[in-house]
Amino acid sequence: MKNTVLVSGGAGFIGSHVSVELIEAGFDIVVADNFSNCDLTCFKGVKKITGRDDIPLEVMDFCDASATKALFAKYPIDAVIHFAAFKAVGESVQEPVMYYKNNLLSFLNVLEAAQDKGGCNVLFSSSATVYGEPDKVPVTEETPRKPAASPYGNTKKMCEDILQDCVKASNGAIKGILLRYFNPIGAHPSALIGELPRGVPNNLVPFITQTAVGKRECLNIFGNDYPTPDGTCLRDYIDIVDLAKAHVCAVKRMLDGKMAQPCEVFNIGTGRPLSVLELVNAFEKVNGVKLNYRFAPRREGDVTAIWADPAKANEQMGWKATRSIEETLKAAWAWECHLKTTYGNE
Ligand code: UD1
Repeated sequence: MKNTVLVSGGAGFIGSHVSVELIEAGFDIVVADNFSNCDLTCFKGVKKITGRDDIPLEVMDFCDASATKALFAKYPIDAVIHFAAFKAVGESVQEPVMYYKNNLLSFLNVLEAAQDKGGCNVLFSSSATVYGEPDKVPVTEETPRKPAASPYGNTKKMCEDILQDCVKASNGAIKGILLRYFNPIGAHPSALIGELPRGVPNNLVPFITQTAVGKRECLNIFGNDYPTPDGTCLRDYIDIVDLAKAHVCAVKRMLDGKMAQPCEVFNIGTGRPLSVLELVNAFEKVNGVKLNYRFAPRREGDVTAIWADPAKANEQMGWKATRSIEETLKAAWAWECHLKTTYGNE
């Protein structure tokens, strides 16, 4: 019998790519989303890519405890991957209550529903932001977490702790995996799903593609006076399809009883640092487009350099990033061009 995976926030950027990989790996999935920060584009894309018109979609808010319980009662959920959360760092500084309420309550409701059902495998989408400005790079899972620089980052840390505590208290009924993502970028090679930021993008790659397509005038590179080889920040850009596959490995690990501990943490990155300038140059070269950019002052809250040591995920989970930065940046550009053809330059 097939296992069923609930994908909360499954209509968004990461959720939709994970949905595709889960279906291709033979899982049944249930997508649940309140569409607060996305529309039906990616969900429709998932159906098209997988040729599956029967994927259950539940339009609901995980902050609603009874709706969350009803969802767990309706489907035979073997594992849940929790993406449903707000994710804009700057906005979280302006609206901390909104961020804490949404990101914590939705996760607590998922955990309560899982407990009431007698247990579940829970995968939480965390972030490298929990490492703050690390003292040493690359970072391993043992690298100490730092105080969060934003309410958004704090919700990631707090949800990590909440899951650890629940697993501890559950006597084996709840198992947990925390995946700490580095910088997920790119799009599915079909160009049918990808990132759809509302308004002005905060993240680098959507800003690059929107500048290249003419939606934005000029990319600001935030800071060229960092103590790095070319003065711009270093990050670990991980292809979204590679990242999605890590979720399949993690879910299988939980379901197959392969976990070394009841709650595990994995870094999901490439182990390859790239500067902002290197990324911009690679984008121009691989896609044959000239990008209008200028150097601007540093952005508040940015760390100088962070990249993953992905050895634990490579060795213990059998997962490895495989796609080159060129492939990833080609896919990101193909997605932006697909959006332009479909919607014009709105
Ligand atoms: C941010 C969040 C991280 C989150 C990730 C994915 C922090 C500190 N960072 O990572 O938690 O998981 O987004 O959503 O919490 N840049 C420019 N110009 C731009 C945009 C970005 O130069 O217009 C630079 C930034 O200064 C940075 C790099 O590009 O050096 C990457 O920025 P971004 O894509 O926003 O990701 P992070 O800040 O690394």
